[in-house]
Amino acid sequence: MSQVTEISPDFFKISTFIPEFNIQFNQFLVRDEEPLLYHTGMKGLFPTVNEVVARLMDPTSIRWIGFSHFEADECGALREWQKTAPHATAICSLVSKLVSVDDVVAERPARALEDGEVLLTGKYRFKFLQTPHVPHAWDAGHLFEETRGILLCSDLFHQDGDVEPVTTRDIIGRFRKTLIDYQQGPFADYLPYTTKTEQFLNRLAALRPNVIAPMHGSTYLGDGESAICDLAQVMRELLA
Ligand SMILES: [Fe+2]
Ligand SMILES: [Fe+2]
Repeated sequence: MSQVTEISPDFFKISTFIPEFNIQFNQFLVRDEEPLLYHTGMKGLFPTVNEVVARLMDPTSIRWIGFSHFEADECGALREWQKTAPHATAICSLVSKLVSVDDVVAERPARALEDGEVLLTGKYRFKFLQTPHVPHAWDAGHLFEETRGILLCSDLFHQDGDVEPVTTRDIIGRFRKTLIDYQQGPFADYLPYTTKTEQFLNRLAALRPNVIAPMHGSTYLGDGESAICDLAQVMRELLA
């Protein structure tokens, strides 16, 4: 049911397609000295994802669990993962920790990352960028892996459908279609466009990622700076 793709050495994408909603949920597993899981998925996904992780490494050794913002697909199964992995600590923004995570979903206190703080997992290094309301939610942030240029971009570049795990082709058209489709139904206004949206997107573009790794849809390999500039244009056009 879930598909595993190694997008970089020991850096796995675990993708599960849910046909009823025509959407993929992606987790990223970094097999390193201090293993990191990015996005837990919802509680209902836990048994499936846990099984996949167990094929790749010992799930009890997960050390860090990261996510962009407080939401079921980002961190809904945090407690289940922390019960499985006794040393796993959530990493998120201070707002996320104080406003929601510690009280609602964490088995033990999260570690708040400061804007610009770097977390070393071994061969990989993750920089945290605080980006309130990008993609959405007050507590939102992103992790950027600096050695390989991998941007874990959460709901940015969301593409519906059972799309390929990785692509070098433009994903902007699909993102655009998802936003348009969402505007017609109960999920309208999925992403806000605030006075700071462009500034935060520019900051992400300036990282010049080589890999754009969204939670929903294909991972894009290519010129991440241009892709984010295109994304900013689409968001301005459809949401501003
Ligand atoms: Fe979200
Ligand atoms: Fe999401």
